[in-house]
Amino acid sequence: MSSQEIPEDKHLPSEQGDAHHGGVAVADDPFADPGLPVHKPRIQDIDDRAAKRSERTVAMLFTVSMLATIAFIAAYVIIPVDKIVYLFPLGKVSALNFALGMTLGIALFCIGAGAVHWARTLMSDVEVADDRHPIAAPADVKAKVMSDFAAGAEESAIGRRPLIRNTLLGALAMVPLSGLVLLRDLGPLPEEKLRKTVWAKGKLLINQNTGEPLRPEDVQVGSLTFVQPEGLEEGTHEFQTEIAKAAVMIVRIQPDDIKDKRELEWSHDGIVAYSKICTHVGCPISLYEQQTHHVLCPCHQSTFDLSDGARVIFGPAGHALPQLRIGVNGEGFLEALGDFEEPVGPAFWERG
Ligand code: FES
Repeated sequence: MSSQEIPEDKHLPSEQGDAHHGGVAVADDPFADPGLPVHKPRIQDIDDRAAKRSERTVAMLFTVSMLATIAFIAAYVIIPVDKIVYLFPLGKVSALNFALGMTLGIALFCIGAGAVHWARTLMSDVEVADDRHPIAAPADVKAKVMSDFAAGAEESAIGRRPLIRNTLLGALAMVPLSGLVLLRDLGPLPEEKLRKTVWAKGKLLINQNTGEPLRPEDVQVGSLTFVQPEGLEEGTHEFQTEIAKAAVMIVRIQPDDIKDKRELEWSHDGIVAYSKICTHVGCPISLYEQQTHHVLCPCHQSTFDLSDGARVIFGPAGHALPQLRIGVNGEGFLEALGDFEEPVGPAFWERG
C-alpha cells in the first residue's frame, strides 16, 4: 500500500493533531496504530537513467561472478597442486588454494552483492501492511470440524468395534518400547563403577611425585601431597580410568586445629586425606592455603575448608570433598582403611 492509499487515520499521531506537551506530541491512545511513514520514492523510481545505471551495475556484478567461476575452473586445471607462492602479508601460500579461494569468494560475493543492489534499487519498495487476524477459528468452522470428526469416527466404526480400538491402543502404547530397547546400545550400565574406587583397606598411599609409599614423618605440617593407591601402573588404560576417581591429596594439620570430629577420627596424627576431584564438575583441586587450611579449585573457585570436614565455604560446588579414612600399617607406612564412603566427584551423584 503506498502513502497515497494510506487512510487518513493511519498516519503518524503528530499528523493527526494530537495534544502537545512542551513540543512533544502525545496521542490520546498511547498504543494507537502509528501507521506507515510517508513513502519516499527512490531516485530509480523517478529517473529512468538512474534505473538503467542500477540495472547495469547489477548485470556487471553477475557478469563478474560468471568470470570468477570460469577463473576458478581454469585455476583448478592449470595451477599445480604443489606450487607455493609468496604473497604479502600472508607469506608463503599454496597458489592453487589461494586462487580457488579467491575466485570462489568473488563469484559468491558478486551474486550476493548483485542481488542486494537489485532488491534495494530496482525491485518494488512499496510498503505493505496487513492486519493481524484473530487466531481462534470462527464458531461455524469449529462446529464443522467437530461434526467432520464425529462423522469420521462414525464411519471408522471405532466405537462399534472394540476389538480393533483396543488392539490399536495397545499397538500405539507399545511402539515407543522399541526406542527403549535401543537404549541398550548405549553400552553396559556403569553399575558400581562410578560409586567405587580402587581404594581398599590396606592399600598404601603412594606419593605421586616419587612413586614411593609414604610414612607419616614424610608429611610436613602445611604441605600438600598428592597420592595414589598402590598397585596402579602409570601409562596404562586402567591407570587413567582409576586415577580419575582415586586421586587423593593429603595435608597435615595440627590435630587441635581440626574442627570436625569425624575428620579427626579418620585422620592419623593430623594427616588428613581427601579426594582431589572437585565436587562441582570434577576438576582436580590443586591450590592449598596453609594458614587457613583452605583448598581452592582453579576451575570455578570452589573453596573447601580442610580443617572442617572439607565443607564448601565458597563457590558452586554442591558438597564437601569425600574423606579417605587412613591409618598406619605395621611397617609404619600410611595406608587406607577402606574405600571412600560416598561417591567422589560432581554433586550430580548426590541425587543418584
Ligand atoms: S570444577 Fe571445581 S569449582 Fe567448578
